[in-house]
Amino acid sequence: MNLTLKIWRQQDANTKGKMVDYPISGVDEDMSFLEMLDVLNEDLISKGEEPVEFDHDCREGICGACSLQINGEPHGPDRGVTTCQLHMRMFNDGDTITIEPFRAKAFPVIKDLIVDRSSFDRIQQAGGFISVNTSGNTIDANAIPVNKHDADDSFAAATCIGCGACVAACKNASAMLFTSAKVSQFALLPQGRVEATDRVLNMVRQMDEEGFGNCSNTGACEIECPKGISLENIARMNREYIAASVKK
Ligand code: SF4
Ligand code: FES
Repeated sequence: MNLTLKIWRQQDANTKGKMVDYPISGVDEDMSFLEMLDVLNEDLISKGEEPVEFDHDCREGICGACSLQINGEPHGPDRGVTTCQLHMRMFNDGDTITIEPFRAKAFPVIKDLIVDRSSFDRIQQAGGFISVNTSGNTIDANAIPVNKHDADDSFAAATCIGCGACVAACKNASAMLFTSAKVSQFALLPQGRVEATDRVLNMVRQMDEEGFGNCSNTGACEIECPKGISLENIARMNREYIAASVKK
Protein backbone atom coordinates (compact mmCIF):
# COMPACT_ATOMS: atom_id res chain seq x y z
CA MET A 1 0.00 0.00 0.00
CA ASN A 2 1.03 3.58 -0.63
CA LEU A 3 -0.23 6.03 1.98
CA THR A 4 0.01 9.66 3.00
CA LEU A 5 0.53 10.20 6.73
CA LYS A 6 -0.38 13.55 8.26
CA ILE A 7 1.51 13.52 11.56
CA TRP A 8 1.52 16.00 14.46
CA ARG A 9 5.07 17.27 15.05
CA GLN A 10 5.81 19.28 18.19
CA GLN A 11 9.27 19.88 19.62
CA ASP A 12 8.14 20.15 23.27
CA ALA A 13 5.27 21.27 25.47
CA ASN A 14 6.18 24.96 25.04
CA THR A 15 6.54 24.95 21.25
CA LYS A 16 3.64 25.24 18.83
CA GLY A 17 3.02 22.02 16.87
CA LYS A 18 1.82 21.44 13.31
CA MET A 19 0.70 18.65 11.00
CA VAL A 20 3.41 17.45 8.56
CA ASP A 21 2.77 15.25 5.48
CA TYR A 22 4.82 12.07 4.96
CA PRO A 23 4.27 9.85 1.92
CA ILE A 24 5.04 6.20 2.69
CA SER A 25 5.16 3.26 0.26
CA GLY A 26 5.44 -0.52 0.48
CA VAL A 27 3.23 -0.84 3.56
CA ASP A 28 2.14 -4.46 4.09
CA GLU A 29 -1.45 -5.07 5.26
CA ASP A 30 -0.13 -7.51 7.89
CA MET A 31 2.00 -4.82 9.56
CA SER A 32 0.79 -3.37 12.81
CA PHE A 33 0.27 0.39 12.91
CA LEU A 34 3.41 0.80 15.04
CA GLU A 35 5.46 -1.34 12.63
CA MET A 36 4.33 1.00 9.85
CA LEU A 37 5.61 3.94 11.93
CA ASP A 38 8.89 2.05 12.50
CA VAL A 39 9.32 1.85 8.72
CA LEU A 40 8.65 5.58 8.41
CA ASN A 41 11.19 6.36 11.15
CA GLU A 42 13.88 4.15 9.57
CA ASP A 43 13.35 6.07 6.35
CA LEU A 44 13.54 9.45 8.14
CA ILE A 45 16.72 8.43 9.99
CA SER A 46 18.36 7.22 6.77
CA LYS A 47 17.62 10.66 5.26
CA GLY A 48 19.12 12.42 8.30
CA GLU A 49 15.73 13.69 9.49
CA GLU A 50 14.39 13.54 13.03
CA PRO A 51 12.20 10.45 13.62
CA VAL A 52 8.62 10.79 14.87
CA GLU A 53 8.45 10.23 18.63
CA PHE A 54 5.63 7.90 19.72
CA ASP A 55 5.00 5.96 22.91
CA HIS A 56 5.00 2.14 23.10
CA ASP A 57 6.26 -0.68 25.29
CA CYS A 58 4.60 -4.13 25.27
CA ARG A 59 3.18 -4.02 21.72
CA GLU A 60 0.58 -6.60 22.74
CA GLY A 61 -2.27 -4.56 24.26
CA ILE A 62 -1.16 -4.75 27.88
CA CYS A 63 0.75 -1.62 28.90
CA GLY A 64 -1.51 1.10 27.51
CA ALA A 65 1.43 3.21 26.30
CA CYS A 66 0.61 3.39 22.58
CA SER A 67 -1.79 6.31 22.78
CA LEU A 68 -2.43 7.66 19.27
CA GLN A 69 -5.40 9.50 17.83
CA ILE A 70 -5.78 8.00 14.34
CA ASN A 71 -8.20 9.63 11.89
CA GLY A 72 -9.82 11.32 14.89
CA GLU A 73 -10.34 8.13 16.92
CA PRO A 74 -8.29 6.94 19.90
CA HIS A 75 -6.45 3.75 18.78
CA GLY A 76 -7.93 4.13 15.27
CA PRO A 77 -10.89 2.61 13.43
CA ASP A 78 -10.89 -0.95 14.85
CA ARG A 79 -12.80 -1.87 18.05
CA GLY A 80 -11.43 -3.50 21.22
CA VAL A 81 -7.78 -3.01 20.25
CA THR A 82 -4.92 -0.72 21.16
CA THR A 83 -2.82 1.03 18.51
CA CYS A 84 -0.15 -1.69 18.70
CA GLN A 85 -2.85 -4.29 17.89
CA LEU A 86 -4.27 -2.26 14.99
CA HIS A 87 -3.35 -3.72 11.59
CA MET A 88 -2.77 -1.89 8.34
CA ARG A 89 -5.42 -4.08 6.69
CA MET A 90 -7.93 -1.67 8.27
CA PHE A 91 -6.77 0.92 5.70
CA ASN A 92 -6.79 1.05 1.90
CA ASP A 93 -4.13 1.78 -0.69
CA GLY A 94 -4.02 5.53 -1.35
CA ASP A 95 -5.50 6.51 2.04
CA THR A 96 -4.50 9.63 3.92
CA ILE A 97 -4.18 8.90 7.65
CA THR A 98 -4.04 11.62 10.31
CA ILE A 99 -2.01 10.76 13.43
CA GLU A 100 -2.18 13.00 16.50
CA PRO A 101 -1.45 12.71 20.21
CA PHE A 102 -4.31 12.21 22.67
CA ARG A 103 -5.71 15.72 23.25
CA ALA A 104 -6.54 16.79 26.82
CA LYS A 105 -5.42 19.59 29.15
CA ALA A 106 -4.39 16.95 31.70
CA PHE A 107 -2.27 15.13 29.05
CA PRO A 108 0.31 17.75 27.97
CA VAL A 109 2.38 16.90 24.89
CA ILE A 110 5.97 15.91 25.69
CA LYS A 111 7.08 15.58 22.07
CA ASP A 112 5.32 14.82 18.77
CA LEU A 113 2.83 12.01 19.59
CA ILE A 114 3.92 11.39 23.20
CA VAL A 115 1.80 12.85 25.99
CA ASP A 116 2.42 12.98 29.73
CA ARG A 117 -0.20 10.76 31.41
CA SER A 118 1.26 10.98 34.92
CA SER A 119 -2.07 12.58 35.96
CA PHE A 120 -3.45 9.01 35.80
CA ASP A 121 -0.65 7.82 38.11
CA ARG A 122 -1.54 10.51 40.65
CA ILE A 123 -5.23 9.50 40.59
CA GLN A 124 -4.16 5.90 41.20
CA GLN A 125 -1.81 6.93 44.01
CA ALA A 126 -4.65 8.90 45.69
CA GLY A 127 -6.50 5.69 46.57
CA GLY A 128 -6.13 2.88 44.04
CA PHE A 129 -4.71 0.35 46.50
CA ILE A 130 -5.62 -1.73 49.55
CA SER A 131 -3.60 -2.01 52.75
CA VAL A 132 -2.79 -5.61 53.67
CA ASN A 133 -0.41 -7.19 56.12
CA THR A 134 2.42 -8.80 54.16
CA SER A 135 4.64 -9.48 57.15
CA GLY A 136 4.31 -13.27 57.06
CA ASN A 137 0.93 -13.83 58.72
CA THR A 138 -1.27 -13.05 55.72
CA ILE A 139 -4.53 -14.94 55.49
CA ASP A 140 -5.18 -17.25 52.56
CA ALA A 141 -6.95 -15.44 49.70
CA ASN A 142 -9.70 -18.09 49.59
CA ALA A 143 -10.54 -17.57 53.30
CA ILE A 144 -12.81 -14.65 52.33
CA PRO A 145 -15.63 -15.85 50.05
CA VAL A 146 -16.49 -13.51 47.15
CA ASN A 147 -19.74 -13.62 45.20
CA LYS A 148 -19.02 -14.87 41.65
CA HIS A 149 -20.77 -11.93 39.92
CA ASP A 150 -18.82 -9.42 42.03
CA ALA A 151 -15.55 -11.24 41.36
CA ASP A 152 -16.24 -11.19 37.61
CA ASP A 153 -17.20 -7.49 37.60
CA SER A 154 -14.14 -6.64 39.70
CA PHE A 155 -11.89 -8.54 37.31
CA ALA A 156 -13.49 -6.82 34.30
CA ALA A 157 -12.84 -3.40 35.88
CA ALA A 158 -9.25 -4.41 36.67
CA THR A 159 -8.54 -4.99 32.97
CA CYS A 160 -8.28 -1.20 32.46
CA ILE A 161 -4.76 -0.57 31.17
CA GLY A 162 -4.72 3.18 31.82
CA CYS A 163 -4.28 4.04 28.14
CA GLY A 164 -6.30 7.28 28.27
CA ALA A 165 -8.44 6.55 25.20
CA CYS A 166 -11.55 7.28 27.27
CA VAL A 167 -10.25 10.80 27.95
CA ALA A 168 -9.26 11.37 24.32
CA ALA A 169 -12.68 10.18 23.10
CA CYS A 170 -14.64 12.41 25.49
CA LYS A 171 -15.72 15.90 24.38
CA ASN A 172 -15.19 16.99 28.02
CA ALA A 173 -11.84 15.14 28.38
CA SER A 174 -13.38 13.33 31.35
CA ALA A 175 -11.43 10.63 33.17
CA MET A 176 -14.54 9.13 34.78
CA LEU A 177 -14.30 5.77 33.00
CA PHE A 178 -10.66 5.27 34.05
CA THR A 179 -11.19 6.45 37.64
CA SER A 180 -14.41 4.46 38.04
CA ALA A 181 -12.68 1.27 36.84
CA LYS A 182 -9.95 1.77 39.44
CA VAL A 183 -12.56 2.47 42.17
CA SER A 184 -14.78 -0.45 41.10
CA GLN A 185 -12.10 -3.14 41.11
CA PHE A 186 -11.79 -2.64 44.88
CA ALA A 187 -15.35 -1.51 45.73
CA LEU A 188 -16.73 -4.90 44.64
CA LEU A 189 -14.46 -6.96 46.91
CA PRO A 190 -14.60 -7.31 50.73
CA GLN A 191 -10.87 -6.54 50.88
CA GLY A 192 -11.58 -3.20 49.20
CA ARG A 193 -14.38 -2.09 51.53
CA VAL A 194 -12.05 -1.22 54.43
CA GLU A 195 -10.76 1.96 52.75
CA ALA A 196 -13.70 2.47 50.34
CA THR A 197 -14.90 5.82 51.76
CA ASP A 198 -11.53 7.57 51.61
CA ARG A 199 -10.62 5.89 48.32
CA VAL A 200 -13.50 7.26 46.25
CA LEU A 201 -13.34 10.73 47.81
CA ASN A 202 -9.57 11.04 47.31
CA MET A 203 -9.49 9.63 43.78
CA VAL A 204 -12.34 11.87 42.58
CA ARG A 205 -10.72 14.91 44.24
CA GLN A 206 -7.42 14.14 42.48
CA MET A 207 -9.21 13.60 39.16
CA ASP A 208 -10.78 17.07 39.44
CA GLU A 209 -7.49 18.69 40.51
CA GLU A 210 -5.74 17.28 37.45
CA GLY A 211 -8.11 19.25 35.20
CA PHE A 212 -10.19 16.45 33.68
CA GLY A 213 -13.73 17.42 32.66
CA ASN A 214 -17.05 16.09 33.91
CA CYS A 215 -19.04 13.19 32.52
CA SER A 216 -22.10 14.15 30.47
CA ASN A 217 -23.14 10.57 29.63
CA THR A 218 -22.16 10.68 25.94
CA GLY A 219 -20.73 7.15 26.14
CA ALA A 220 -17.89 7.74 23.65
CA CYS A 221 -15.42 6.48 26.28
CA GLU A 222 -17.04 3.04 26.46
CA ILE A 223 -17.08 2.72 22.64
CA GLU A 224 -13.41 3.64 22.24
CA CYS A 225 -12.08 1.73 25.29
CA PRO A 226 -9.86 -1.11 24.03
CA LYS A 227 -10.73 -3.21 27.08
CA GLY A 228 -14.51 -2.80 26.98
CA ILE A 229 -14.71 -1.08 30.37
CA SER A 230 -18.44 -0.57 31.01
CA LEU A 231 -20.24 2.69 31.83
CA GLU A 232 -21.74 0.76 34.76
CA ASN A 233 -18.48 1.50 36.55
CA ILE A 234 -19.20 5.25 36.39
CA ALA A 235 -22.65 4.67 37.90
CA ARG A 236 -21.04 2.55 40.65
CA MET A 237 -18.45 5.25 41.38
CA ASN A 238 -21.19 7.90 41.60
CA ARG A 239 -23.09 5.74 44.13
CA GLU A 240 -19.88 5.16 46.10
CA TYR A 241 -19.13 8.89 46.02
CA ILE A 242 -22.58 9.95 47.27
CA ALA A 243 -22.51 7.37 50.08
CA ALA A 244 -18.97 8.43 51.08
CA SER A 245 -19.90 12.13 51.04
CA VAL A 246 -22.80 11.49 53.42
CA LYS A 247 -20.55 9.51 55.79
CA LYS A 248 -17.77 12.13 55.95
S1 SF4 B 1 -11.09 2.80 30.88
FE1 SF4 B 1 -10.48 1.89 28.90
S2 SF4 B 1 -9.95 3.65 27.62
FE2 SF4 B 1 -9.92 4.37 29.74
S3 SF4 B 1 -7.82 4.13 30.46
FE3 SF4 B 1 -8.91 2.22 31.02
S4 SF4 B 1 -8.55 0.83 29.29
FE4 SF4 B 1 -8.01 2.88 28.55
S1 FES C 1 2.39 -0.86 23.32
FE1 FES C 1 1.53 -1.71 25.16
S2 FES C 1 -0.62 -1.59 24.82
FE2 FES C 1 0.25 -0.92 22.93
